[in-house]
Amino acid sequence: MKHIRILGISGSLRADSTNTIILKTLGSLLPSDITFEIFEGLDEIAHFAPGLSDTGQVIRFKTAIAQADALVICTPEYAFGVPGTLKNALDWTVGTGDLNDKPVSVISASPLNSGGNNALASLLLTLTALGTKKNDGSALSIPNVKSKITEGRVTDAYTLNQLRIQCNNLLSLIGG
Ligand code: FNR
Repeated sequence: MKHIRILGISGSLRADSTNTIILKTLGSLLPSDITFEIFEGLDEIAHFAPGLSDTGQVIRFKTAIAQADALVICTPEYAFGVPGTLKNALDWTVGTGDLNDKPVSVISASPLNSGGNNALASLLLTLTALGTKKNDGSALSIPNVKSKITEGRVTDAYTLNQLRIQCNNLLSLIGG
């Protein structure tokens, strides 16, 4: 059977980001024979404008996507939207179709009750425009995230189960 590779992308650049912790936790819940890597350096990707050629970091980003069988994006919400750094990176893939038919899992974690629902909805819309492969189970909102993490680890049983469900759904999208 083909070796499965999954690429994680965090929409937060903070060193102790709750979204990155969620992402790492999801990675740890995947079967051990699956390679899970988190893309580093989202903030080194140049500002997108139509007509610009792919530069070093953009090429690295697109290569990481091409080598992955699926993506997990976990992002905070800023001012009811997707962080600019993440949206900028995704905009580079519009013209070249790098995410076309790529299975995705999309998560937004927030310290608020809303769970980053606005960012989640906006990101899902963008990922629809990019032609990604997803279904009704591909999105997860995590409210009150700080209460679900202890010393850098997700300790909330319900959230851990929700992350396991995301893993299983993503694997079914890769297989299907
Ligand atoms: C936020 N935060 C936030 N949260 C939210 O649910 N909806 C929002 O619109 C915003 N807006 C917002 C703007 C700015 C400028 C900041 C700095 C923060 C709070 C945000 O969810 C919180 O800082 C998270 O902890 C960020 O995620 P990481 O970095 O922990 O992954």
